[in-house]
This record gives sequence, structure tokens and C-alpha cells, in this order.
Amino acid sequence: MPKRAQLKTIKEKFQEVFRDSHGVIWLRAPGRVNLIGEHTDYNDGFVLPMAAQQEIVLAVRRRQDFRVRVYSLHYAQESEFDLEKISFDARRPWINYAQGVAWSLLEAGYRIGGIEAVVGGDVPIGAGLSSSAAVEVAFALAFSHLYDLQIEREELARLCNRAEREFVGLPCGMMDQVSSLLAGEGAALFLDCRSLECRLIPFENEAVRIVICDTQVRRELTDSAYHQRVEECSEAVRLLKRHLPRITHLRDVSRRQLEEFRDELPEVIYRRARHIVSEDERVLTAVEALEGEDFEEFGRVMDASHESLKKDYEVSSRELDLMVDLAREVSGTLGARLTGGGFGGATVNLVAFSAIERFKRQVFQGYKTATGLAPGIFVSRPAAAAGLISGSGDFNP
Ligand code: GLA
Repeated sequence: MPKRAQLKTIKEKFQEVFRDSHGVIWLRAPGRVNLIGEHTDYNDGFVLPMAAQQEIVLAVRRRQDFRVRVYSLHYAQESEFDLEKISFDARRPWINYAQGVAWSLLEAGYRIGGIEAVVGGDVPIGAGLSSSAAVEVAFALAFSHLYDLQIEREELARLCNRAEREFVGLPCGMMDQVSSLLAGEGAALFLDCRSLECRLIPFENEAVRIVICDTQVRRELTDSAYHQRVEECSEAVRLLKRHLPRITHLRDVSRRQLEEFRDELPEVIYRRARHIVSEDERVLTAVEALEGEDFEEFGRVMDASHESLKKDYEVSSRELDLMVDLAREVSGTLGARLTGGGFGGATVNLVAFSAIERFKRQVFQGYKTATGLAPGIFVSRPAAAAGLISGSGDFNP
């Protein structure tokens, strides 16, 4: 459940911008923390995220016309568009997530009308916790509830993903949208990005906690580097296909096959492929470790994942490496790695419960001294999937 103060602010803003809160419904959509399985989703591989406690909250109601008006608390700005004239907005990029979702629903043949909304919440933007997918999911659920669209969650995830890929322009995989829509409270979500089959794995052991460390360094994922990694993976598949004609994604390649045809690949492409192939294996190991509550092993594969992201996939940064190194110096840290797309954003850490206070103190101080930046450090338990908070305008937070 979102924090009361947050809901109150949203309610007040809604009344201020749209006069009253008659007919308003309330929705929440969590950000996600990926525990392991980075950059594997667009390679049809495996991922193991959980929903974060940080979430996007939307207060929203129907309009009688085809306009969409949105006030964003993050940007302290209002923006609007017409459902009959949707076009990419370069001046207010944040509105493109709402536009993209509306576009995707319309493209798929759903009948929707206008809405007015206030969007807020506490998912840090650009921190690698997928605020963008959470915003997409919140708007998709809003249209779905207000226009009675009856869309299954898996289909909603596909529609949001299409918005991100084809409207916003990030060629991402399905992890973020699926996490927000299908995660489970107290569980990690083991997802096969090929079939979208998923399994919730209980993760409620009191002896450990997931700690997120936000470097405060932002990088836009629409940046060319993400595109470049996607291309490099396709290139690996294209070259390996000469010998392995049945493969369609790096998911289909084993470590042995990759080694066998290593000489066929330029060195960089080989390293990119090695990250993906080994990361898929690590996810499977992590799932087994989590099921057996073997947190030492889970931490080891997290560490290995970071090394691979740093050296083979080259998506880490000075600040992310520093944060990981500082975390590893704390006794009681079991594993540390960057989470999300990389280049900036946050790390995810598995820490013994008894070491949490020490961890926060030591990592905060160390990072601040080295960079001058005050990192965001917070414990996150696996939260519930996105959904309705209240269907009533009288809702009193
Ligand atoms: C971003 C993308 C995801 C995924 C991660 C890296 O968050 O949106 O689809 O590719 O990067 O694992």
C-alpha cells in the first residue's frame, strides 16, 4: 500500500488541477528490482526480478471526449494530447509513456476515450528500477478499468512493451512490464522471456534483505548504448547461425557451442555473447539457490553477474563499480551487482539482516566521500503486482 502522505498529495493535486475528485479511481504499479538476469530478456532468456516497494500511483477518471490530460508530480508539469492525434512529444518526454500506451491499445483495436490523471509515486526516475514500465502499466490499467477492456495481464504487458519499443523507441525485452503486472508479494518472479511462462519463488527469509543503492547518476536508456548491445547480440546470432542454423536468439546457444565457434566471432561480439550465455546459466543457479534458501550461493552468482556485466558486457560505470566494491567490503554482504540496464542507476545487494545498519552507514559514507554524491540506500521487500488501490472518488488516504 502506498504511503499515505503520497496519496494525500496526489488527491490534493487532482482537486486543484481538475476541480474535484468525483469518479476518480486509484491505481498503483510497482517498479522492479532485477535480482539477476541482466540484458537476457531481449535474448529470449531468463530473468529473476521482484516488484519493488517503490511504486507509481495514479489517480484517474474518465472524460467525455478524446483528450488525455495528465499532471505529473515528478515533473511538476501538466501535459495533454488528443487520442485521435497521438504523436511523439520531444518537449515533454514523460508524457510519451502515456501516449505510447494509448497508441498501443488503439493499434490493437481497443476502444478507449479520454482520461484525466495525476501521476506520482516514489519510484526514482532513471535509477534502473524501471519507472517507465511502471508508468506504462499504471496507464494501461487505468484505460482497462475505466473503459472495461477486460485484458489479461500477460496481454497488457505485451501492449505496454509495444508502447516502449515502438512508440518511445527503446528496443527492450519484456522483463519490466511483466514484473510490474505479474510479480507477487513476498516472492521473486522467475520468468522465461521466450514463453513468458513465470513462476513465483517465495523470498521471505527473515535472515536476509534486498538493499537497493542508487548511485544518483542518471543515464537515459534510449541512449545509443542499449541499442548497440541489442545489435551486438543480433550480430552474434547472425554469425553463429552459419554453424547453428536453428538458433534464433542467444538463448539457444550453449556455452560449449559458443566456445566451439569462438573464432568465428569478433572479440567484442564473443564477449557480449559470453555474458548472455553465462548469465542465463546464473539465473538458473540463482533460482535453485533461492528455492533451497542457499543465500551464500545466491550472493556468489550475483557477484559473478556483476563481473560479467562489467568486463564482458561493459555496461557498468565507475560509480556502479564503486558502489559494488563498497558493499562487498561490509561483512554480512552476500552479493552485490548493478541492476537494470546499467551505465548509471542502482545496484542490488543481498545483505544479512543483522548487517543492514552497518551496510547503510558504511556504503553511504564511503560513496559520499569518494564522489560527493549522497546515495539513496533503501531496503525493499518483494511487493505485490500492480492493481487497483480504490475504485472510489471518496477515497480518503
Ligand atoms: C532495461 C530494459 C529491460 C532489460 C534491462 C536489462 O531495464 O527495459 O528490458 O533489458 O534493461 O536487463
